[in-house]
Amino acid sequence: LLAPTFLFAQVLGQTYGHPGVDHAWVPAGPGDFRGPCPMMNTLANHGFLQRDGRNITRENAVNALKDGLNFNPTLANIMFDQAIIANPEPNASYFTLDHLNKHNLLEHDASLSRSDAYFGNNHVFNQTVFDETRSWWEGPVLTADMLANSKVARQLSSKAFNPTYVFTLVTEEFSLGEVVAPVIAFGDTDAITVNRTLVEYFFENERLPTELGWTRREEVVSLDTIHHATDTIRNATRLYTDPKSSLSKRKSSRNPHFG
Ligand code: HEM
Ligand code: MG
Repeated sequence: LLAPTFLFAQVLGQTYGHPGVDHAWVPAGPGDFRGPCPMMNTLANHGFLQRDGRNITRENAVNALKDGLNFNPTLANIMFDQAIIANPEPNASYFTLDHLNKHNLLEHDASLSRSDAYFGNNHVFNQTVFDETRSWWEGPVLTADMLANSKVARQLSSKAFNPTYVFTLVTEEFSLGEVVAPVIAFGDTDAITVNRTLVEYFFENERLPTELGWTRREEVVSLDTIHHATDTIRNATRLYTDPKSSLSKRKSSRNPHFG
């Protein structure tokens, strides 16, 4: 009687991860915590993180990012260090997915798939917001330019219509990482491209796109991978067209208005 249940879990689940842990996709039930991060939610939906979204320790986070996405421990530890401030208790050793919802701590305005706190729920997937984002993804393969355009467009619409819009330089650094995150998880981390169908499936279902043919990347994701990716997006967010090399030359030229 046990065997069919076991086999069922094997078929639905992933073939990696900790032996004996079931990585079948099960969406959150009543009482489970979820947050503004589609990937943390996804890792919980697959049991790489606790399915209830609670009590995420350093060890839990490092293992989940390794088993689910092949992040190296150094990178995963840095991410945990950045996230632990979400738990308001001093010297906390864990955070919950609900902690991540606190507005203007880690969660910020102009998200790709969530509404600004000013307009309502800041952490549940919002199809209208995501459709605005997607409208800038103009081909089957997302490029750094398309991802950057959607980020800038979301900021412009928040700045225009949300009177409480906040987006600091610290937010910008997190935002660049978030916008390129689907490339890190599902795409080409050298070219900075990713198949649009995988990204849409991921955001809309909070599920790893295994049934679309995706498998966890074989190369380990390191801090260098992230730096190359965020730098590429950062350059692509510029709204001026001068090649980067000509910027330094311009510094020495006189400004026609104030020079
Ligand atoms: C957004 C936390 C890891 C993908 C966010 C946000 C938080 C967060 C608080 C909300 C920011 C906003 O307001 O939009 C975390 C923590 C992580 C983690 C604590 C690990 C310790 C990851 C990983 C990926 C990822 C590994 C994928 C490779 C994303 C994406 C968004 C996001 C795509 C943007 C969602 C949107 O703009 O709608 N994350 N994250 N995150 N995260 Fe994570
Ligand atoms: Mg947000």
